[in-house]
Amino acid sequence: MSLLIRGAHQVVTPTGSTARRGRDLAELDIRFGAVVRCDDGIISFVGDEAEHRRRFPVPDEILEADRGCVLPAFVDPHTHPVWAGSREDEFDRRLRGETYMEIAKSGGGINSTVHATRRATEEELFATTMARLDTFLRHGTTTIEAKSGYGLDLETEIRMLEVIGRAHAIHPVDLHPTCLAAHEVPPEHRSNPERYIEELIGVIHPEVARRGLAEAVDVFCETGVFDLEQTSRLLAGAADHGWRIHLHADELTPLGGAELAVEMGALSADHLLCVTPMGIAALAGSDTIAVLLPGTAFFLRMPWAPARDLIDSGCAVALATDCNPGSSPTESMPMILALACLGMGMDVAEAVTAATLNAAAAIGRAGELGSLEIGKRADIIVIDAPTYQHLVYNFGVNPVRHVVKNGRPVVMDRHLI
Ligand code: NIG
Ligand code: FE
Repeated sequence: MSLLIRGAHQVVTPTGSTARRGRDLAELDIRFGAVVRCDDGIISFVGDEAEHRRRFPVPDEILEADRGCVLPAFVDPHTHPVWAGSREDEFDRRLRGETYMEIAKSGGGINSTVHATRRATEEELFATTMARLDTFLRHGTTTIEAKSGYGLDLETEIRMLEVIGRAHAIHPVDLHPTCLAAHEVPPEHRSNPERYIEELIGVIHPEVARRGLAEAVDVFCETGVFDLEQTSRLLAGAADHGWRIHLHADELTPLGGAELAVEMGALSADHLLCVTPMGIAALAGSDTIAVLLPGTAFFLRMPWAPARDLIDSGCAVALATDCNPGSSPTESMPMILALACLGMGMDVAEAVTAATLNAAAAIGRAGELGSLEIGKRADIIVIDAPTYQHLVYNFGVNPVRHVVKNGRPVVMDRHLI
């Protein structure tokens, strides 16, 4: 099956198969009036329409961009998309001044979602996850990293990862599963967290790996959750399980998670609201991607991650939603781009690269995803405006009009098909 996207005002993309860093983050390839052709799910041509006509047969299908801007679809490299219940009561409490950690310590927070998720059936979790994936897709995201972490026991962690696997099999959005069983200490182990760490290392991680349910592991490395020493023990077996490492690092307190992520060879260090100059230097000298989640700073009303310092120091920066019920309940990458620019001081070109090519790199997929180049997967969006800056400039609305996944239109005129 072949598809031609034509009639664009601009076709805009970062280029390459590795993460961009420093100044290179802002370098976009911008072609006016270009067309994009896809054959069997792969991009086969980007360029001049007349040249396309000379070199290629008539396509099976044509998608009219109507003077809109064509970009790579978003990759969202940090999400917690499977959960039951919701936490708007805590949101109200935070608006009245309580902090995220105070609420967590008083029995709310992650453990309240764990309570609801443990009681939910697999079918309930599957249905709500599928609905969320529809929202991701309508906002232009075709690939997500998807964490477990609201089970905190073997049975429920496996149920969550199986839901992720089932959704991946039938939904147009691709899901890359991460085991985040080390998201919090569950209530039954509160009096002796070491027992839960032993269970994670001895039972939960090996069983998840044996079943092939995850491709990566993550730990919430945070004051009052898992400290640096516990985190490094929890991550020590990752390579034996064949897992890459992501790390919730320096989110609420400056613990040194970024340095630990680099030391452990993590693919990404995520959050970084409180990263120190030493953490920034460590990331800049490594291949670990700094995944920034400005939705969380916005929603928890915390200071922004130091995106400018990270970029100007030469770190590879990516953007993600952190979609979850407690600290960032959104599926919208356009919203995240707006916060990245208006909050963290990135420019729109940097944000586009961070949400596409670098986001693909943050899940180890920059060779196949994240840019509009021959040979890459044909995951493409068409926005309702002529230039890419409108992604952010026209903030607070969904600019995505059409979405193409694997060379097939899956959203047309904002409707799922
Ligand atoms: O990334 N920090 C830990 N996990 C999530 C929050 C999860 C929750 O509050 O339910 C985060 O911010
Ligand atoms: Fe998170």
